[in-house]
Amino acid sequence: MSERLIIVGAGQAAAQAVQSLRAEGFDGPITLIGDEAWPPYQRPPLSKAYLLGSFARERLFLKSDQFYRESDCTLILGARVAAIHRAEKTVELADGRKLAFDKLLLTTGTRVRRLRCPGADLAGVHYLRDIADVDGLQAVFRPGARIAIVGGGYIGLEVAAVAAKRGLDVTVFEAMDRLMARAVSGPVSDFFAAEHEKSGVKLKLRTGVEAIEGDGRVEGIKAGGQAYPADIVLVGIGVLPKDELATRAGLASQDGIVVDGNGRTGDPAIFAAGDCTRHIGREGTAIRLECVQNAIDQARHCALAIAGKPASYSEVPWFWSDQYDLKLQIAGLARAGDQIVLRGDPAARKFSVFHLRGGIVAAVEAVNAAPDYLAGRKWIADGARIAAEKLADPSIPIKQMA
Ligand code: NAI
Repeated sequence: MSERLIIVGAGQAAAQAVQSLRAEGFDGPITLIGDEAWPPYQRPPLSKAYLLGSFARERLFLKSDQFYRESDCTLILGARVAAIHRAEKTVELADGRKLAFDKLLLTTGTRVRRLRCPGADLAGVHYLRDIADVDGLQAVFRPGARIAIVGGGYIGLEVAAVAAKRGLDVTVFEAMDRLMARAVSGPVSDFFAAEHEKSGVKLKLRTGVEAIEGDGRVEGIKAGGQAYPADIVLVGIGVLPKDELATRAGLASQDGIVVDGNGRTGDPAIFAAGDCTRHIGREGTAIRLECVQNAIDQARHCALAIAGKPASYSEVPWFWSDQYDLKLQIAGLARAGDQIVLRGDPAARKFSVFHLRGGIVAAVEAVNAAPDYLAGRKWIADGARIAAEKLADPSIPIKQMA
């Protein structure tokens, strides 16, 4: 008899899972439950072209209605799953409805980490994670408005770039001593800092926020002992895994639902994929990745396992960010102690940074340098050893290096 599959969480991993399950021959009915009003959509454009207004909402959706129809996938949208009952193999919706499953896939993603300081709940404080957040922010994005951005990570800087382009007065407050410190090396942080400053963005590094000030709505921000006037605050200080459904059902989570290389949780009927999970990465350590690549590849692996063709997961993680006309592409995971090799000249706005570990390419960060990124990604997958002197010499074409 065909198995019934329920997917909880309607994001990138969910859409991929439906596609891969059908491609792998899974023939049971699929029900996809999401708490937003929308079917699965791409999040990357939200903080970029969609915020800028140059990307129509319809283009965000990952699959057409026809795709779900043809995939025999029932969408239940605007509905929250309140509990998983493992013994009876049902999920319970917030409205009390119960749905039975044979296999369950959790693709619940993350929620934003919220600022906790006086004034954090004032009107005019925004976050950016979903379509509704961006629509709310767009409504107040007026030329000349003063926006204080808390967090100089991906979200903060992508919004800063769009805001500067739209003529807002932008200040970024970052707690660490450099931008995107979680994700990139020093040279790349410094390069992006200079680019933002060139576009008129004011950067306040090593500056934690003490309070948001205002009478009912935002009027300013107090940070690093100083007061700054502001009309809008945008907070981008990271995300937390939505793992509470899993933990309440007794499944293990350590800042991410713990899964094996096939996306299986401790319960053989329950799988999880994407930002909400923690898995053992290629390097043998437990890791939670926040990226489209991981959502897609883990979903594929879950689909393979659910369809009875398990294959272990060991993909190279990759990430990207668009800020102004700069495309930052990253593959692999850098570590403290890696040998850093600069290729090209940041002043030319086209360069890359390779990370070697014991002479082997472990990660690459490329700015407007797609060939370096593509070569680096392949070398990481192959465990290639490339001499630092060669990498650092832009007169040697990247293609001739392996
Ligand atoms: P993030 O982790 O990239 O950056 C958060 C930044 O906020 C860090 O630089 C951190 O030092 C800083 N911070 C933390 N607490 C602070 C405080 N109290 N005051 C000032 N600074 C503080 O997280 P972000 O930017 O919120 O992104 C959220 C998620 O969205 C991530 O999963 C990210 O990977 C994803 N995303 C990815 C993009 C990409 O790959 N291009 C683009 C946009 C978002």
